Amino acid sequence: MANVIIASPADIEAMRIVGRMASETLELVGDSIRAGMSTEDIDRLVVEDTKRRGAKCSPLNYHGFPKSVCTSVNNVVCHGIPNPKHVLKDGDIINVDVTTLFGGYHGDTSATFYVGTPSPEARLVTEVSRRSLDLAIAEVREGARLGDIGAAIQEFAEASGTSVVRAFVGHGIGRKFHDEPKVSHVGKRGTGLRLRAGMIFTIEPMINGGHWDVDILDDDWTAITKDGSLSAQFEHTIVVTKDGCEILTARKAPLKNSEGVASLTM
Ligand code: MF3
Ligand code: CO
Ligand code: CO
Repeated sequence: MANVIIASPADIEAMRIVGRMASETLELVGDSIRAGMSTEDIDRLVVEDTKRRGAKCSPLNYHGFPKSVCTSVNNVVCHGIPNPKHVLKDGDIINVDVTTLFGGYHGDTSATFYVGTPSPEARLVTEVSRRSLDLAIAEVREGARLGDIGAAIQEFAEASGTSVVRAFVGHGIGRKFHDEPKVSHVGKRGTGLRLRAGMIFTIEPMINGGHWDVDILDDDWTAITKDGSLSAQFEHTIVVTKDGCEILTARKAPLKNSEGVASLTM
């Protein structure tokens, strides 16, 4: 297991600032989501809001990524590329993944939004993804294991008739966008790295309505479900504490067009 950084109090304070920026930008997107807008419109919103804060968008040019935010619609699992020709329509679900760079630190958060009225499958993957992230976060404290996080997600998602994507994982984050540890969203309790206070990483489960396998499109970025089923994702950046964790990308209010739109009583 490669070395995992233990953040200093100054690092954590810097991560609170950039984490809040990323979450506020995501809230702004949630307020704006509607049928008829393009994924390029979302990119523009994120660019303008980030610039206004004196911050940068981490995705732009990251290993050649061509845009400033990831927009992943319906069967797209993650890393969707904003495109002026991709116009949102009623019934779509879209994950918007915002990563902000400020003061030398990255903050990473995403949510899935409903465009108009969701289908039963759209509600299922979205609400299972949201709830599985909450359950995973509840496992985090000093002394817990990485496997506890993956198990919490996998147990709930599979009991709900959905599957957990294997090909992409959560990650350490701070001065680097993607660092150790790798945070698998499947696993066995009591196994894997032991968490220590001051570790900072993301948890970002991708939940498919069908099988977990993915394909990558010819653009070398867009990941889609192999079976064409829907996929949803939520992501927070967290710091481990003695008795739990602090969500560095926490929101002040429920997201519009997402939290509270559909319930998990299906
Ligand atoms: N924000 C994504 C994550 O959660 C990574 C996007 S990489 C990019 O890790 F290049 F596509 F932006
Ligand atoms: Co991430
Ligand atoms: Co992200």
